[in-house]
Amino acid sequence: IEETLVLVKPDGVARNLTGEILRRIEAKGYSLVDIKLIQADRGLLAAHYAEHEGKPFYIPLVEFMESGPVVAIRVAGNRVIEGFRVLAGTTDPTTAAPGTIRGDLGRDWGLKVQQNLVHGSDSPESAARELELWFK
Ligand code: GTP
Ligand code: MG
Repeated sequence: IEETLVLVKPDGVARNLTGEILRRIEAKGYSLVDIKLIQADRGLLAAHYAEHEGKPFYIPLVEFMESGPVVAIRVAGNRVIEGFRVLAGTTDPTTAAPGTIRGDLGRDWGLKVQQNLVHGSDSPESAARELELWFK
């Protein structure tokens, strides 16, 4: 069975949307395998977002992700990597489709980084790497 890493980002935790996001994952039929509330440190975030180092949104992204606790979730199910990305919606919450987590619950707050509530691994390789980082 395939597994993915989902993060409820600090904006989702601060807005008390963790339960709503878990509800959508469970209602879709995926299984929660492991879950924890964690204050990520700079080292974990640098490893997690290594592919974005040097991009203009990289520093605001890391600062945002360390601004408060996140909920890390190991989620399982057939094609869950792709399936959760569809549940989440596209990166920009302003234009993410209604019916998705980002489209229904997110918007542009006029900040330097897109605060878009959730992260989901984008490939089997990313999922394996990220699950190893967040669930050692
Ligand atoms: P994740 O699931 O969080 O990885 O989102 P994603 O895969 O949809 O986006 P990506 O991996 O490309 O970027 C990681 C995060 O950086 C996004 O979720 C946004 O928070 C932020 N980000 C990405 N692209 C931009 C951008 O063009 N502008 C700004 N301001 N933020 C961005
Ligand atoms: Mg990504």
